[in-house]
Amino acid sequence: MLRTVTLLGATGSIGRSTRDVVAENPDRLAILAVVGGRDAAALARVAVETGARFAALADEAGGPVLAEALSGTGIASGAGRSAVLDAVAMESDIVVSAISGAAGLEATFAALTPGRIVALANKESLVCAGAAVMARAQAVGARILPLDSEHNALFQVLGAEPVSSIASMILTASGGPFRTWDAQQIAAATPQQALNHPNYAMGAKITIDSASMMNKGLELIEACFLFGVRPDQLEVLVHPQQIVHGLIAFRDGSVSAGMAMPDMRVAAAHCLGVDGRLDAPPARFLDLAKTAPLSFERPDLVRFPALGLAIAALRAGGATPAVLNAANEIAVAAFLAGRIPFPGIARLVEQVCAMAFADQASPADVAAALAIDQEARKRAAALLPRAAMAVT
Ligand SMILES: NC(=O)c1ccc[n+]([C@@H]2O[C@H](COP(=O)([O-])OP(=O)(O)OC[C@H]3O[C@@H](n4cnc5c(N)ncnc54)[C@H](OP(=O)(O)O)[C@@H]3O)[C@@H](O)[C@H]2O)c1
Repeated sequence: MLRTVTLLGATGSIGRSTRDVVAENPDRLAILAVVGGRDAAALARVAVETGARFAALADEAGGPVLAEALSGTGIASGAGRSAVLDAVAMESDIVVSAISGAAGLEATFAALTPGRIVALANKESLVCAGAAVMARAQAVGARILPLDSEHNALFQVLGAEPVSSIASMILTASGGPFRTWDAQQIAAATPQQALNHPNYAMGAKITIDSASMMNKGLELIEACFLFGVRPDQLEVLVHPQQIVHGLIAFRDGSVSAGMAMPDMRVAAAHCLGVDGRLDAPPARFLDLAKTAPLSFERPDLVRFPALGLAIAALRAGGATPAVLNAANEIAVAAFLAGRIPFPGIARLVEQVCAMAFADQASPADVAAALAIDQEARKRAAALLPRAAMAVT
């Protein structure tokens, strides 16, 4: 049976992985609609390459460029918020949610319709509004499949076991490019050094989050909502080879590991193979003898304070994870723009999370989550000059 796919974040790194898997399985999968952010020319190319019927660009100003680039192709296009929601409203079987940041929340939420599968890469949706997103999926009968590699591995390891069988869940982390650096070296890190991820070519935001280990913190929050486990059941282990993506320790002492090559197409293929597993090319198979030895170590919360801040936000609950995420997005953009040093990221996040407004209840819907997000961004932007001061 041919399943149709709407691809949000089609021009990005996860978008690329998803497109590869769809192209490898033309008898099983077809792309119906593609959504991008600002790059109209790239979105037009992707729309033509995938044979999509509709292309939507979030940036309204890019609409004419997109329409011009697609003229004569028979592919319809639109721009702005409503066009993105139009793409989501098209009747596809699977929506791949791979917009980066809190900007992906509204479309992810709208994608949750009866019987639909939402393959979720956009972890920020769960960080900002996890309770509301999970409740919506349950209420309408949509199915969220985790596309994030750690959560995908944990999902597969858990299988049909009840959550009550879990003693703990372990998410692995590469440790990023600064795993072996001392605090002084990290304090002087440049954007170019932080963008040099050891194993994956990803979008800039998640790559910086990997360098600070905020990414793993966001993933702990994501896991809490996805699997319904308590914060104290979640652990992080640094595993530089990124072959083991997640482990579950069951109550009886058994431990099962989810393994795969560090290639996002593996998790994407799992999410897209809804009627049975898809075939992967030989290069995507794991050869453990070649990848050995595998090593594991505890994360260092002193050199990587962002992870500790995310764990604190997870424990605090309520609106704090959404505040943490918004402050982090502002901080990462400022670091990439050369406005704050690398340690300024965690410092800014800490200051914004410490503000009284971060204490609000967990957002009940998208509007409430976006209001918290906007407020936190405003406060983070106001604090940027302080975060710009040297920190060691
Ligand atoms: N990359 C990975 O290996 C990986 C692994 C696990 C999870 N994830 C998660 O997957 C998501 C995407 O990551 P990525 O690395 O693929 O990011 P990316 O390469 O930066 O791609 C982001 C995509 O989202 C689009 N976009 C940005 N802002 C948008 C907006 N306001 N509305 C609609 N589209 C928008 C971008 O289009 P423009 O370029 O035109 O702006 C691009 O297509 C993130 O949440 C990330 O945490 C990624």
